[in-house]
Amino acid sequence: MSYSDASVTFLPSHTVASAVKGESLLDCALAHGIDLECECGGSCACTTCRVRVVSGQDYLSVAEAPERERLAIEGRTGNNIRLACQALVGCGNIVIDTQPDHCT
Ligand code: FES
Repeated sequence: MSYSDASVTFLPSHTVASAVKGESLLDCALAHGIDLECECGGSCACTTCRVRVVSGQDYLSVAEAPERERLAIEGRTGNNIRLACQALVGCGNIVIDTQPDHCT
């Protein structure tokens, strides 16, 4: 039996994944077969792993300076955009859009 702290729903596939506290959204996504780009391998250097937090922002770690700076350099700030490799899961229900550039 596995233990999980959070439930992460990935849109647009509506895949529901369990996650443990401290796990990155990227690791959670990849572990559950979500095709999320990660060109730099999770080192906060590319922004290809960017996602939009639809709900549950309070259940994710706060964006630290390197993440905020990387997103700002790429002009990707606002609308709850996060780097999946940097956002760590806490406890609760989280909904993530893996195609933030396609949102209406
Ligand atoms: S995988 Fe490159 S910034 Fe997240």
